[in-house]
Amino acid sequence: MTDTTTAGTDRTAGTASQDILVHTESGITTITFNRLDKKNSITRAMYAALADAFDAAAQDAKVRVVVLQGDVAIFSAGNDIGDFLQQTPSTQDSPVFRFLRGIATFPKPVVAAVCGPAVGIGTTMLFHCDLVYAGDNAAFSMPFVNLGLCPEAGSSLLVPRMFGYHRAAEALLLGEPFMAEAALEVGLVNRVVPPTECNMVAQTQARKLAAKPLSSLIETKRLMKHAQQPEVLERIAQEGESFGRMLVQPAAKEAFSAFMEKRRPDFSAS
Ligand code: COA
Repeated sequence: MTDTTTAGTDRTAGTASQDILVHTESGITTITFNRLDKKNSITRAMYAALADAFDAAAQDAKVRVVVLQGDVAIFSAGNDIGDFLQQTPSTQDSPVFRFLRGIATFPKPVVAAVCGPAVGIGTTMLFHCDLVYAGDNAAFSMPFVNLGLCPEAGSSLLVPRMFGYHRAAEALLLGEPFMAEAALEVGLVNRVVPPTECNMVAQTQARKLAAKPLSSLIETKRLMKHAQQPEVLERIAQEGESFGRMLVQPAAKEAFSAFMEKRRPDFSAS
């Protein structure tokens, strides 16, 4: 059965056109990153589409669960680096913060299916999901320092809390990728599966959740999360201030230019 609660069987939102696909069926809204030529890196327009999709799913009583998924070979390469270079100032009302607040406060279960690289916000958004399934090709990374930036999405709070300080420091200071098995060990991932089965496993779990009483799901999630939610939202805002300042500083400019020019960055002056 297909619900038409999000205006049709398939909905694409905002100017992101086909880059974010939103499909609602049988109480499950599935959001798919679909900008494969740019490794599902996320533009401002895509953040707006994501924020709208979470808002709509929160308000629609027929939606019980959200699934976030990418492609079998790539989840997301994180923020679009071209957008970073544009240096559009990000206020708390900008699409990225609307998305982060939306996912961090989303009242219903969120299930993620992650295959291939999950870079930057591609990893940090997972700390706000309830169940995470990973293909054995998943590679998580939070390379903010390597880009002259600092953590975002509450990750400076949530990564040490989940991983323990030293493992968090390794992930956030070195910024090197860690694979699905390591993510399983630190508790970021529920289960590691073959990549071709990952989206299906997430849908199966979502269907189980969608069959349960929504009021109990919402209340259980609220009880698990409400104590830390104000702290998380405050940290997202604090990180956002630092991140915005650092985006226009020499280290970040050098890192972004190096990425665009396909060369190694030279941080000797920063
Ligand atoms: N922003 C903008 N474009 C990106 C991008 C990003 N974050 N990540 C990848 N792309 C683009 C590349 O520029 C390239 O475009 P082109 O074909 O026009 O040259 C295309 O996507 C393919 O990327 P490529 O690097 O060739 O793919 P890969 O399979 O070798 O590597 C990644 C995949 C994800 C490991 C690699 O692209 C990467 O590290 N991306 C940057 C991640 C990052 O630093 N994100 C910001 C985090 S805050």
